[in-house]
Amino acid sequence: MAFFCLLTLVVSSVVATSPSSLVLHEHRAHAPPGFTSHGRVSDSHMLTLRFGLASNNVAALQDKLLSISSPGSRDFRQWLSQDEVKAFMAPSPETINAFNTFASANGLKPAIVSPYGDWLSVSLSVSKANKLFGATYTNFTHPDFPAPITRTLSISLPAELAGHVDVIHPSTAFTAPIVRRAPSISRSAPEHKRDATPPADCDTSDPKNNITPACLQKLYNIPTTPATHKNNTLLVTGYVEEWAEVDDLQAFLAQFRPDLPSNKTFVTTLLDGGSNPQGPGIAGFEATLDVQYAAGIASGVPLQFLSVGTFLSDFPTSVLDTTTFLASAAQLPTVVTSSYGLNEDFFGASLATKICDAFAGISARGVSFLFSSGDGGVNGGHDNGDDCGLFLASFPASCPWVTTVGATIGFNPELAANFTGDSAIIFILHPNSPAHHKYHLAGGGFSSIFPAPSYQTSAISNFLKTIPPSFPGSGKFNTTNRAFPDVSLQGVSFLINFRGEIEQALGTSASTPSVAGMVVLINDRLIGEGKPVLGFLNPFLYANEGAFNDVVKGHNSGFECPASSVAFDAVPGWDPLSGLGTPNFPDLLAAALA
Ligand SMILES: *[C@@H]1O[C@H](CO)[C@@H](O)[C@H](O)[C@H]1NC(C)=O
Ligand SMILES: *[C@@H]1O[C@H](CO)[C@@H](O)[C@H](O)[C@H]1NC(C)=O
Ligand SMILES: *[C@@H]1O[C@H](CO)[C@@H](O)[C@H](O)[C@H]1NC(C)=O
Ligand SMILES: *[C@@H]1O[C@H](CO)[C@@H](O)[C@H](O)[C@H]1NC(C)=O
Ligand SMILES: *[C@@H]1O[C@H](CO)[C@@H](O)[C@H](O)[C@H]1NC(C)=O
Repeated sequence: MAFFCLLTLVVSSVVATSPSSLVLHEHRAHAPPGFTSHGRVSDSHMLTLRFGLASNNVAALQDKLLSISSPGSRDFRQWLSQDEVKAFMAPSPETINAFNTFASANGLKPAIVSPYGDWLSVSLSVSKANKLFGATYTNFTHPDFPAPITRTLSISLPAELAGHVDVIHPSTAFTAPIVRRAPSISRSAPEHKRDATPPADCDTSDPKNNITPACLQKLYNIPTTPATHKNNTLLVTGYVEEWAEVDDLQAFLAQFRPDLPSNKTFVTTLLDGGSNPQGPGIAGFEATLDVQYAAGIASGVPLQFLSVGTFLSDFPTSVLDTTTFLASAAQLPTVVTSSYGLNEDFFGASLATKICDAFAGISARGVSFLFSSGDGGVNGGHDNGDDCGLFLASFPASCPWVTTVGATIGFNPELAANFTGDSAIIFILHPNSPAHHKYHLAGGGFSSIFPAPSYQTSAISNFLKTIPPSFPGSGKFNTTNRAFPDVSLQGVSFLINFRGEIEQALGTSASTPSVAGMVVLINDRLIGEGKPVLGFLNPFLYANEGAFNDVVKGHNSGFECPASSVAFDAVPGWDPLSGLGTPNFPDLLAAALA
């Protein structure tokens, strides 16, 4: 997997001297390893570029979000309206004017593609894009991808747009068109299927005990009583034609939650050519796991499944469109769970920042976002045994405005999870080529892009004190930045009903919808008491460390990489493997109601 590699993204602050001059915006010396240039794209080829315009006051939105999500503040949980968010997110009149003037002077017809007007889409020829933005749009192929992607190693802004345009996409972000490389789509090997026997009980004295909803309920004291409030939807995201099947969900619930109505279903929403056909043999493994544990824990909560894009869709565009869909929605889900991600450096700083800001805007309206931390330990998705001890973050997990979930294994005590000695082979399920890729768990570490948010600085500083001065990883991660995960939950040996059969699943993908289910159940209680929902969680979580079972053991080095390779170790208190620990439902509920 040489594909996952650290890239250097240079952002220049050179100031232009004449109106027609170009200001370098982003540049990379070469394409990431694995990509081959196929030469300049012909001049007449048409490109569709997205322009992310500068929001007029994103810093003030972030301040407001921190205030309304922090226990004890005057406006605690006074979530914002769509219009209030728009006031922060919309570009300023000067920015809109600068872009429109530039567009009409150059014969471009921008279409607004976000509710706040901060994303525009423009169709233009390659020759025009190259000329206007000092680019060289080139086709690059990658052995793992069926079609070339069109990118440029360098992109500039006309001086009159500098400061007004944050992002042009696609340009220098070499994101994979196929997100199957997402660290979290993993599955037990067939030889372990025989182990997928439903346990009679949740036997926490047996470390090989399989996880079912009942087992999670027992471990974390999660109530089995169904939620009663209908205006409290849990949304499960799906990408890359990961399809969720109603039949499998109902069979799963009939077996593992016989106390719930057996006719449970979900509302499906399709975006960007997404689909969710129903039929035998087509369920996606990730979608199956996500929907079944969301429904299995969030008893009685309305479920929505959002299927975005196709197998070939550009993942950042799909994530971006997920945010514009939610930002546009008059009626929002209260919790969103997503088990997808890619290494942060695929996105690059400007694109990741703009998408992360969009999460802040939606969170500020009272939505809790949960993302899996990735299954690649400190190495992001990069664990081929060759480059052990790289420190790469995954995104959106690294965004400070979402809540990131890691995985644990075992009982009394739970450990930060890895797969050594457990399911020996894990592979990515892929309809065309079920290539075997090994991963380990407990993705975690530090962002290379986002500064540490205030809610986390003391947790990080306490953790850093546990690192010995001789730590060989020092200098490989940015100690002043956002670190993740925030919380964790069991992530190994989850039983699911996949295409009619019981199978084992594992990964932070399993942990994330389960935590989401707990959060949405707390929302149900809050709504019942006439209180606002939890919304953006992190300041509340970090202020209530006592509501978590601390996870104090684990080493997130790698599966291929030996245990001796440099990585973080779990410690008492927050750490970048298990976060604050695993949530104890009654304690978290009590803190929420306090
Ligand atoms: C470049 O890739 C695009 C997208 O796959 C394709 O439509 C186009 O024909 C390619 N152009 C060249 C010159 O290879
Ligand atoms: C449901 O919640 C949304 C905000 O979360 C609110 O705008 C709407 O009025 C609520 N609907 C009902 C029927 O309570
Ligand atoms: C499920 O069954 C219950 C009672 O049997 C019924 O009230 C409810 O409408 C059904 N739901 C669906 C989605 O069919
Ligand atoms: C650490 O990240 C910050 C952004 O949060 C950046 O300004 C700084 O240059 C980074 N330091 C290193 C050593 O990469
Ligand atoms: C993985 O966890 C097991 C305990 O479940 C432990 O024995 C083993 O040493 C760990 N491996 C690594 C690489 O940390």
